[in-house]
Amino acid sequence: MKRDYTPILNSIKNILEGEPDVVANLANVAAILKTLPEFFWVGFYLVKGKELVLGPFQGPVACTRIAFGKGVCGTAWAEKKSIVVPDVNKFEGHIACNSNSKSEIVVPVFNHREEVVFILDADSDSLNAFDENDREALEQTARFITQSLKVTA
Ligand code: SME
Repeated sequence: MKRDYTPILNSIKNILEGEPDVVANLANVAAILKTLPEFFWVGFYLVKGKELVLGPFQGPVACTRIAFGKGVCGTAWAEKKSIVVPDVNKFEGHIACNSNSKSEIVVPVFNHREEVVFILDADSDSLNAFDENDREALEQTARFITQSLKVTA
């Protein structure tokens, strides 16, 4: 599905400008992304030590903690790169937080030192819901979030 990200990216850019609070910003970004078609769950995991811990999100209750290198989220963190999963049942080690999730995209968010600080995760209840268009737009979203972080963060 070719989603129109132009208004979404403008909203995200605007909402992040001038607000330094990270949790408030991640919560609003999740709310904006949730308006996209077929976004069943979207939110952030926060890097805390050797684990990801659930952060601001929109959608059903989700897994609270994910270890480094585990699941799609932990793999994206370890490999420092985005992962598009057309069919979650075909991704070895996928962590099923909700049985309705069929496909998924995961994008790391970096700080100014190129360390992964958050994981942006979107799930769909349709197979094959995400493609390169989504990857590019969500990576742009991640860059906007990086820019909104204090340089010392
Ligand atoms: N499926 C993810 C877990 C997070 S939920 O989808 C919200 C994974 O395998 O890392």
